[in-house]
Amino acid sequence: MPAVKKAVIPAAGFGTRLLPGTKSQPKEMIPIVDKPVIQYVIEEAVDAGITDILMVIGKGKRAIEEHFDRNFELEYSLRQKGRTKELELIRRITDMANIHFIWQKELNGLGDAVRYGRLHIGDEPFVVLLGDTILQGDNNVNITKQIIDVYEAKGGSVVALEKVPPELVYRYGVMDGSRIDDGNLYRVNGWVEKPAVGHAPSDLVVAGRYVFTSRLWPLLDQVPTTVNNEIQLTSAMHLLAQEEQMFGLHFEGRRYDIGNKLDFIKTNLVFGLQHEEFRDELRVWLKDFIKEL
Ligand code: UTP
Repeated sequence: MPAVKKAVIPAAGFGTRLLPGTKSQPKEMIPIVDKPVIQYVIEEAVDAGITDILMVIGKGKRAIEEHFDRNFELEYSLRQKGRTKELELIRRITDMANIHFIWQKELNGLGDAVRYGRLHIGDEPFVVLLGDTILQGDNNVNITKQIIDVYEAKGGSVVALEKVPPELVYRYGVMDGSRIDDGNLYRVNGWVEKPAVGHAPSDLVVAGRYVFTSRLWPLLDQVPTTVNNEIQLTSAMHLLAQEEQMFGLHFEGRRYDIGNKLDFIKTNLVFGLQHEEFRDELRVWLKDFIKEL
């Protein structure tokens, strides 16, 4: 079985829900404490053993490219000022992995964005990580690594799953499947995109991390486009689950979707409270602040 070494990161979306903050900057570049969201995502991929990353970007996303490119003027200036810590920080970003960029010409949905990876990835199994979603496993477990491990043990595609309150299933791609043994692993029968409340096959939904085999590629061409001319990734995943075995891993940890304002604010707070430089001061301040509410 070939090792999983390549990743596709869709990051072309407009980020409408974060406007006006995303009018002229990509949502993936908005910092959570001191790092842009996309850096957390890339670090997770690299830590999971990914060495080659294809990022699907679109209009107004050049800042992402620049973030992962070298900036010689800045490096020179930091060196002159003796700011070695900062110099190390920015040099590390460019050395993390081979990162390639491709433009999604029209924003025709997540499935269409992933489809841009076909030539680059070829016949190998690959990971998809959403560029606006950070996952934090309990005890610092790397969730992308976990789903790759499941792929290596079982074969077939693997999807990270999170549980949501039943009244929120209408926002997500929902799994239809059954649990294997007593653990967190599910055998997937299919997927339902944004079901009405009360009509969902489960409360386990896609969490922004996937391992796919190359059998996904032709299916992305087969699925019908929606009324908005979009190609749904979950529609292709539904077909894939009929063709080969597919697994879902209900991971232990938290998902931070920074694509909406409230979650973005919460994520900054949580990460601030975890940051070794700020956590103590922030905790004291927050406690005082809450007393006044
Ligand atoms: P979202 O559903 O969050 O859409 O996409 P969006 O356009 O980014 O944000 P809103 O709804 O306008 O606020 C989920 C992921 O899929 C990518 C996005 O970049 C995000 O990582 N995506 C979505 C694409 O790359 N291309 C698309 O055509 C659509």
